[in-house]
Amino acid sequence: MSDDLLEHLRATVGGEHVLVDDADVAAYVVDWTGSYAGRALAVVRPGSTAEVAAVVSACHDAGVAIVPQGGNTGLVAGGVPDASGSQVVLSLGRMRAIRDIDPVAGTITVEAGVVLADVQAAAAGAGRLFPMSLGSEGSCTIGGNLSTNAGGTAVLRYGMTRELALGLEVVLPDGRVWDGLRALRKDNTGYSLRNVFIGAEGTLGIITAAVMRLFPPTPARATAWVSVADVTSAVALLGLVQAHAGAHLATFEIINRAALDLVLTHQPGAHDPAPGTDWAVLVELAGTAGLDASLEAALGDAVEQGLVEDAAVAGSPAQRSALWALREGISEAQKVEGATLKHDVTLPITDLAAWTARIAPTLEAILPGVRLVTYGHVGDGNLHFNLSAPVGGIASDDALRAAAGELSTAIYDSVAEASGSISAEHGLGSTKAAAAASYKSDVEVDLMRTIKDALDPQGLMNPGTLLP
Ligand code: FAD
Ligand code: MLT
Ligand code: ZN
Repeated sequence: MSDDLLEHLRATVGGEHVLVDDADVAAYVVDWTGSYAGRALAVVRPGSTAEVAAVVSACHDAGVAIVPQGGNTGLVAGGVPDASGSQVVLSLGRMRAIRDIDPVAGTITVEAGVVLADVQAAAAGAGRLFPMSLGSEGSCTIGGNLSTNAGGTAVLRYGMTRELALGLEVVLPDGRVWDGLRALRKDNTGYSLRNVFIGAEGTLGIITAAVMRLFPPTPARATAWVSVADVTSAVALLGLVQAHAGAHLATFEIINRAALDLVLTHQPGAHDPAPGTDWAVLVELAGTAGLDASLEAALGDAVEQGLVEDAAVAGSPAQRSALWALREGISEAQKVEGATLKHDVTLPITDLAAWTARIAPTLEAILPGVRLVTYGHVGDGNLHFNLSAPVGGIASDDALRAAAGELSTAIYDSVAEASGSISAEHGLGSTKAAAAASYKSDVEVDLMRTIKDALDPQGLMNPGTLLP
């Protein structure tokens, strides 16, 4: 049966685009963190929407499950197959065409496998801005961004991926194609079907193309690394910068000492802008002119109010890049350090400081010495609350893994009590699907299952991801 399917897939996409050898499939079956490794019946790399439709249709008829994959940078193991060896990984990596760009309408139409950095570059080439920005932007794809409803460092001003999308083209689980590639800002003609597929993590179909929004460019930047005593001061500083800079505030990211120390240890050439301080905020204003004055006025007020311990304003593009590298290097540095237990939580922003103070002693009691690597998009109420093992090498990595269930449950229970979310931007994948369902009401889980069953009655699209 599987031999027949593989022959059919080879005839559909070309033999060289159906990978089965271990060496060829290796990069597709292990996730970015290196913690989740599966096996695949095959990795199939279609080159067009028609080929995706034919592959999905053949798998549907054969009853074979599909795992869609873009850049494989996801952090919740949603884009890699399970251990059964029975699933087909459908990679969108060959679908990299930019179909259209319209600077006046402010739209770009791209295939799902276009890398995020290439969308940004194409927009810039047309004198426009595609604002989404993630540490993984050199590898992640627009199809993956849509499917995870990715966030990143520009959400404060431009919103999540969902808010940047106008239209989609989707191959449905039975192989039919939904052409919803509309470039309209206004379209009230029924249910918003595109929003069903955005954030669905490949469980309802395969996004093959999208129309995304473009914005006027923001060539001027004012960037500062601001040291603060704690999360309370960071949140107060956010209010001041908003008051002075208004819509020019583009980025407001928090970094604690444990996170910065990992980057200083593992990133060649990294330099500490403010040694001895416990917390820092990377603030950036973006616009066309006059930003330095707004930033300085906000920082002046903050100093007067005792909110700021130290501030380094970037005086050149090189200094700006160095500050950004400290922020963007945290995920990689923590991975190099050893085992990481990732949490991606949102809370109402006014509760963030109290929550971080409340949860710390609970975690210390579970695993003494556990390192709280806390950073992220504090302007969105979103913290990456990632844990590293106590200092001490492999034995302590094992201790972190052994305590992982208890640590994560303590964090999630406490987030749920505070009316927060256990996944702000990474999605649920296979690592958080069961936990998320346990915090949702029966009605909410039932609605989600109803949508899944209606679109994918055979349960062949990315089973085990998003819904347990
Ligand atoms: P993949 O990892 O390949 O897949 C992700 C999910 O989408 C899977 O469930 C997969 O099945 C599904 N999928 C992929 N393509 C399609 C498609 N065309 N149709 C249907 N389903 C599909 N995320 C953030 O939100 N904010 C951040 O700031 C951020 N920073 C990161 C920094 C680093 C260093 C790394 C490694 C990751 C970061 N991420 C971040 C996570 C990740 O980059 C995003 O989730 C990204 O959107 C995934 O895109 P991808 O193309 O790699 O998708
Ligand atoms: C980031 O913002 O750097 C990532 O989303 C966080 C992570 O890797 O956990
Ligand atoms: Zn993030």
